[in-house]
Amino acid sequence: MRNTVPGRRRSTATASLAALSALTLSLAACSGGSLSAADAGGDGEGDGLGTVKVGLAIPASGVYQPLGDDMQQGFDLYLDQHDGKLGGADVEVVVADEGEGPDTGVPAVNKLITQDQVGAIVGLVNSATALGVKDAVEQAQIPLLIANAGADQLTDGSDYIWRTSFTNGAVGAALGPAVAEAVDGPVYVMAADYAAGHESAAGFIEAFTAAGGEIAGESYTPFGSTSDWQPYLSQVQSSGASALYVFYAGAEAVNFVTQYDAFGLHDEVPLYGAGFLTEGGVLDAQGDAAVGVHTSLHYSDQIDSPENAEFVAAYRDAYDEAPTVYAVQAYDAAQVLDLAIAEAGSIDSTAIAEALGSVGEIASPRGGWTFDDLHNPSQTYFLREVQDVDGATVNAVQGDLG
Ligand code: PHB
Repeated sequence: MRNTVPGRRRSTATASLAALSALTLSLAACSGGSLSAADAGGDGEGDGLGTVKVGLAIPASGVYQPLGDDMQQGFDLYLDQHDGKLGGADVEVVVADEGEGPDTGVPAVNKLITQDQVGAIVGLVNSATALGVKDAVEQAQIPLLIANAGADQLTDGSDYIWRTSFTNGAVGAALGPAVAEAVDGPVYVMAADYAAGHESAAGFIEAFTAAGGEIAGESYTPFGSTSDWQPYLSQVQSSGASALYVFYAGAEAVNFVTQYDAFGLHDEVPLYGAGFLTEGGVLDAQGDAAVGVHTSLHYSDQIDSPENAEFVAAYRDAYDEAPTVYAVQAYDAAQVLDLAIAEAGSIDSTAIAEALGSVGEIASPRGGWTFDDLHNPSQTYFLREVQDVDGATVNAVQGDLG
């Protein structure tokens, strides 16, 4: 998918990071002069903090591998734009393959903690994996910036755990009232059978029924191993549902939307979902099958703002493709670390963790956001519709969902 886009040009950050990784590391905290947020990004001032070792835990395999590619690109782009520094410190990135789920992801993060001895961890796509490493990260007292996984319980205001993405329940809930308003009749709910799917469905169902909606039925499909959705689509059809809400992402989103279309439900049962359903390379692969699908998400490359236009142009210049929500979440995680290290004036893990509470508003391509009390972004969700614009499918922004 994304990484097979012809002619894609890798960011020069990849090369510069490889060079940086050859440097001798100094993980000792440096008590050099404190930096203001304005110094963040390394303009030469503030050098002497040493090299901060950042563990990037992202999938390089499994159904979520394309999401990992996007996150790597977003993180690299930020570093590339900031002279390879965060808060004035040089950076060494250690990438660990999260894989598809906890079996691979938990050992990958444990290795970052115990063997690589990173000073901060960024990444994690899968909620089940993130839940599996939460305690280890807290015990090791290493700041973790979750750049995707949306499990509601991951963030509880712990000093070490912060999230630059979303909670699954919030993305689903954002769409509930809009679907109750638009659809006349009961709605069927279908999702991947693991933490993220259940929470997305629960968030949607609660908000949708509170707004007067009625549920036609629910199905939870085995995560990562479902290849044939026909039996589930038959249940949707026989339930008499007027619309369908789903949570699928990555390769599962491609297969689901393609089969929903081939099954002939496209015109019969309109499709709604958490925006991962039609995001990035997934949408390229779905093509016309996705036209008309409505989703909620906190980003679209179609957001009409000067900040987003600048980001999209820089991203396209670096990679010859449009950015995704995954790239933005990782870009913002780099930005948060940049501000926190500058604020701490140190690369010591505890000092960085302490400074995370003072980073203030993050100027993001999605729009400005701040951390809430539980350390999740307080942000706007958008209603998006897949449209064909000049032969290309895009997630056109239809309005704010609050
Ligand atoms: C999750 O596991 O929380 C998850 C995974 C992929 C997504 C969104 C959420 O696109």
